[in-house]
Amino acid sequence: MHGLDHVFAQVAAALGPKALSKKKVLITAGPTYEPIDTVRGVTNQSSGKMGYAVAQAALEAGAEVTLVSGVTALAAPAGVERVDVITAREMHKAVMARAEKADVFISVAAVADFHPVDPKPHKIKRGNGNLNVELAPNPDILGEVAALPKGPFCVGFAAETEDLKANAQAKRKKKGIPLLAANLAHETFGKDTNALTLFDDNGLHELARAPKIVLARQLVAHIAKMLPLR
Ligand code: CTP
Repeated sequence: MHGLDHVFAQVAAALGPKALSKKKVLITAGPTYEPIDTVRGVTNQSSGKMGYAVAQAALEAGAEVTLVSGVTALAAPAGVERVDVITAREMHKAVMARAEKADVFISVAAVADFHPVDPKPHKIKRGNGNLNVELAPNPDILGEVAALPKGPFCVGFAAETEDLKANAQAKRKKKGIPLLAANLAHETFGKDTNALTLFDDNGLHELARAPKIVLARQLVAHIAKMLPLR
């Protein structure tokens, strides 16, 4: 062992095991895309940056990380298992196949709540009148994982446009999850920084505006502290 490696090994040993070592962490990130026809679809403005930062932070904390990702322009951190999906129903399938083996599920994805019932296998032509697209609801992925009898510790995200506190508290109760991270949609989508408010049984914890990776590390530390309470 080189001198410096030896020092690092001693420091690592002194710090003890990492906060999430040996834990399996399942994360969703990015937008889902629901096709209307071969060239158009229903989606949203999520860039995936927050979810990818959470994957990076969980990896740094020693976890075994699986990232189920909608379409983004981002590269997954080296060492993360990445599963690419497009629609909410594909994300649902990929998550449910892995949820029972996970210790922690962090649902960062901006999942479209509806999908077109009858996507056309060709480009829809303009025509003269209105175009009606019938939408059917998508599964609530986080809600289903949270309801599993032997499911993982669940963390939700909420992007609100108003009344952050009241909406986030209501959402945490409705989804039946121990921890929810809330942010304002217009202050996060596509940006490199964000501010988060964490809601748990002890009330709320404000995480001040910072780069998403800094917030992700704070969130992971908060989760690690709550885990023994499972
Ligand atoms: N979520 C999910 N599946 C869905 C919708 C949302 O897993 N079909 C997850 C998101 O990843 C997020 C949390 O649920 O962690 C809250 O998402 P949000 O869109 O804010 O909540 P909704 O349940 O869709 O509530 P609403 O749109 O009525 O605000």
